[in-house]
Order: sequence, then C-alpha cells, then structure tokens
Amino acid sequence: MNAVANAAGEYPLAPYKTIPVQDLKDRIEAVRKRLGKRLMILGHHYQQDEVIAHADLRGDSYQLSQLAADNSDCESIVFCGVHFMAETADILANRPEKLEQRGGQKVTVVLPDLAAGCSMADMAAISQVEAAWADMSEVIDTERVIPVTYINSAASLKAFCGRHGGIVCTSSNAAAVLRWAFERGDRVLFFPDQHLGRNTALAMGIGIDQMPVWDPYSLELGGNSETAVENAQVILWKGHCSVHQMFRPEHVAQFREQHPGIKILVHPECPREVNDLADVSGSTGKIIQTVRDSPPGTKWAIGTELHLVNRLKADHPEQEIHFLSPVVCMCATMYRIDLQHLCWSLENLCDGHPVNVIGVDPEVSRWSLVALERMLSVK
Ligand code: 13P
Ligand code: SF4
Repeated sequence: MNAVANAAGEYPLAPYKTIPVQDLKDRIEAVRKRLGKRLMILGHHYQQDEVIAHADLRGDSYQLSQLAADNSDCESIVFCGVHFMAETADILANRPEKLEQRGGQKVTVVLPDLAAGCSMADMAAISQVEAAWADMSEVIDTERVIPVTYINSAASLKAFCGRHGGIVCTSSNAAAVLRWAFERGDRVLFFPDQHLGRNTALAMGIGIDQMPVWDPYSLELGGNSETAVENAQVILWKGHCSVHQMFRPEHVAQFREQHPGIKILVHPECPREVNDLADVSGSTGKIIQTVRDSPPGTKWAIGTELHLVNRLKADHPEQEIHFLSPVVCMCATMYRIDLQHLCWSLENLCDGHPVNVIGVDPEVSRWSLVALERMLSVK
C-alpha cells in the first residue's frame, strides 16, 4: 500500500467495465473495511449519488482542503473530485510538518480517473499567466499587484501566487481573500474565473469600470488600453465554468413568473446577470446549508451542477426544489469518476500497486503551500 507509482498500464481498468453494479459496491465496501482508518475517501458535492455514497467525508472545495490538511491517521486519500482538488490534497496532506509527524511517510493521493479535470482550470496555463504578468508590468507596478487564484486551477498557478505574495481562494472565502489582498497591494489579478472575481468584487463595492477583463489570447495588454489597466482594481482573467455559464437571466425571469415567491439560489461561478438576480449566492456548501436551514414549503430554483440539485431535491421533499435551467448542466469531468474507476483504484491501492497517484512536483508544491496556507489562515 505504500509504493507510489502509477501502475495503470499494468493493471487495466477494462475487466471492471463488466462487473455488475452491486458487486462493484460490495467490493468497494470490502476495501474500505479492510483498510479502515488507513484510507480516507473524499467526495465533492457534485459527484453522482452512487459514488458519493462511498465517501467517508464530503464537502465543498474549501471543506475538502481543510479535511486533507487536518488528516492525521490515514495513509491514502482517494479523491472523488477533479484533478485540482487531488493536487491540493497532496500538497496539504504531505506538507513538511505532516511528513515529519509521520516519520517521512507520504500520504498516497489517488484520483480514480486522471481525465477528471476542470475545464475552467484549463483556461489559465502558467505560461499565459507569466506572460500576462510581464506584459502588465510595462504599465503598472506588479510589486503592488496581488495575484489571487481560484482553487480551481493547476498547482503551478497556486505556486505562482505563493512566489508573488498572492493567495488562493475558494467560492466560500473569496470576499475575505480579496480583503486580505487589498490590505497588501493596490490591485488584484484574479484568475481563472472572471465570474467569481467579478461577482465578489461587485458585492464589495468595486466599480465594474475598475475590472477590466484580461484575454490571454489578445496580443496587447490582454485586449485592454493602458488607461484601463492603470485604473484597474481587479484584473479579471477571461475564464469561466462551462457548467455555470449555462444559467441565464431569462431562466430566473421564467421561474419568478411561473412560481410566485420562489427564491433563486446560485453558485457565484454563474455570470453576473444571473448572480445579480439571485436571492442567495454561495459555494456548494452554502447552497446545501441554505436549503437545510429553510422552512418546509420553501420554493427554490437552484443554479448549480445537476447532481447536487437532484440530491437536494431527494433529501428535502418538504421543500419545492427546481433546477434553474431547462437544459442539463452537469460537470462532465466530475462524472468521469464512476463505480468502475473507484473500485479499480481502491483494489489496486489495497493490493499495494496504486494507480493514478497524484504527485505534485516538490518545488511547485512548496510554493503552492505558501499560497494555500495564506488562504487557510484568512478568517
Ligand atoms: P465549491 O467550492 O463551491 O464546492 O465549488 C467547486 C466547483 O468546482 C464549483 O464549480
Ligand atoms: Fe470545473 Fe465547472 Fe466542473 Fe466546477 S463545475 S469542476 S468549475 S468545470
């Protein structure tokens, strides 16, 4: 169980494709029982029901980072989420103080399907961020710019933030993180999600004219004039979530017309036009808590990933819950984690030849940790 190698080629997934569902469930539970506390399965709220049922703990991105950071007994984390979440778990669970406590023993972090990425995270490559930084330094003093990366980003971007006095944020602490940044600099470069950056900054009273959008594919200053960059408070990277981008203001209007009294609850990755119309906006954790805290009979139209909304519907029959869009908005990459991949990765782990191990480069890990620890210290 301790060997860290990616043995996926030697131990193929194919035979798992024909195993009946109930057998997969039983075999997953058998591994959990056998490994006991040595194994922790973490699951993000967007996972499909049959996968999340096997998670020891579930949460939003912030809660999952905390769980990985606080873990003390387990030897392996199997992450039912997407790549950036598993990278973050590796960085936090294997930080120097934890390694020392475990006598140098690393926690093996496994992502059951390596193709479970995040299309938003892929919208900012480290080479593009470095080029943008160099480009804007021709116009503004980048010593006074604080880079803030949404946790939905590659570890190399978190490391960039660590090196340049910056920080990581999640959807549950973005406002507190921006306040932290403005205590230390004059401007923020926020990537990769323009919507979370804009929605958060607007709620803090920053004017829309002080938030230019930086297009990494534009040759000059991200498509902005020198004056726009000089006047900027928050420079927003031109990235978005393809799932949340699909919620539209007309969906809000339709629900308000057809269901008088309905409340609109959205994730802040939704575009501004939707976020501004919502009654409540927040992380997946906040969305769940808001529904839990509401009295029976409350009517909701919820704008976030489909699996979470369907689970809320099933868990709260006393409330009336609708999905905010007429089309299916689901995170196709999260959905790649299925029972077959989970069973395959668990059994290989248990047999001592882990597959799909996530190992962040030590130098990248060191600087990412700086930015992540700053985030965890922000209250
Ligand atoms: P949360 O941090 O709110 O769980 O969001 C993660 C995510 O990827 C939303 O798209
Ligand atoms: Fe990435 Fe969007 Fe999926 Fe979240 S819902 S993991 S931001 S693609």
